[in-house]
Amino acid sequence: SHRATIDKIEELVRNENIECDFERLDGFLFVPPGESKDLLDRELSAVHRAGLSDIEFVPRAPLRDFNTGTALRYPRQAQFHPLKYLIGLAKALEKQGGRIFERIKAESIKGGTPGHIETADGGHITADSIVVATNIPVNDRLTNQAEQAAYRSYVIGVRVPSDSVTRALYWDTADPYHYVRLARDQDADLLIVGGEDHKTGQADDADLRYRTLESWTRERFPQAAQVEYRWSGQIIEPFDTLAFIGHNPGDYPNVFIATGFSGNGMTHGTIAGMLLTDLILARENRWAKLYNPARITPRAALEFIKESANFVAQYLDWITPGETADAAKIQAGSAAIIRQSFKKIAAYRDNDGRLHECSAICPHLGCVVAWNSSEKTWDCPCHGSRFTPYGKVLNGPATTDLYK
Ligand code: FES
Repeated sequence: SHRATIDKIEELVRNENIECDFERLDGFLFVPPGESKDLLDRELSAVHRAGLSDIEFVPRAPLRDFNTGTALRYPRQAQFHPLKYLIGLAKALEKQGGRIFERIKAESIKGGTPGHIETADGGHITADSIVVATNIPVNDRLTNQAEQAAYRSYVIGVRVPSDSVTRALYWDTADPYHYVRLARDQDADLLIVGGEDHKTGQADDADLRYRTLESWTRERFPQAAQVEYRWSGQIIEPFDTLAFIGHNPGDYPNVFIATGFSGNGMTHGTIAGMLLTDLILARENRWAKLYNPARITPRAALEFIKESANFVAQYLDWITPGETADAAKIQAGSAAIIRQSFKKIAAYRDNDGRLHECSAICPHLGCVVAWNSSEKTWDCPCHGSRFTPYGKVLNGPATTDLYK
């Protein structure tokens, strides 16, 4: 299905003349130094069972200074500039009569005949079908969120001399894994290296993670100049690594979700477009069962037990002491959780020294948020909701702000 969507994206780019730097590239997967290649052997037999017979072993990935050892080569992968592509898609949609409304917040979402959405500004929308594609669904309290977890992933952009790194996609089998690709940046190439993922809201050591990524990069790419960019992003990881795309379990038949893209949002997102179109039009689609949000797999069940234990552990934060007892100790530009009798307060002191206090209890399902000093956000360790330092919701599944 992912391979079919790369073809679909290429077709759209060609037919709609979207200038988005689309290029076909090989992908190379390798194990970290000193590890057995057993995992690659299993991967190869799995991809061959899936019918991808052109994937093969090569003695090493085509990198000058970095001997990866035996690697798997995946031909005809692709990369493109996602925002340029998105703008092109939006224009193509509008050309065909589609309309896009932005900055309208759905307050309640209800299926039925017709489906009905109430917006935060008091508007009403009726629809034959509703697709909730909000990273993590905001219309579902328990079912789906128990089957996936939010992670933060860290990325650096390092300048390298033009053409000093073979253009391809590279990734390893470490856990969390490293991923490497190249972008053009003025007259040099930009090497983009990511990894160092952790569960959202369960670590606040971004500087260390960026430094670790940088030394991993310098060891393998000695031509790397200074780090030009660094950022982190949110990934939603379903327990069996396949997205949930289809009818929202337990909901009206005309409410659909697309979530859990597992760091493969370009292809999973395109799969969602193709699959949901067929479901809405009541057409057969051979991927429907695979991505069915109501599926249960033995592996997912095991992961579910592990993740549930992690989720429950987060509630212990309710009874722990605050990080500081005294708000006066919070420095400008930083924040801390304060305990006041039975309450937990998320307190942020802005650069002018003013203190801003909210409840530290996430309005989604009541976990205690944690400060992310790198992004300057309050992040929820349970399902990944994120809030500004002042408590405004940035990222679901929470749909409301932290309480004042
Ligand atoms: Fe679920 Fe915060 S995101 S409790």
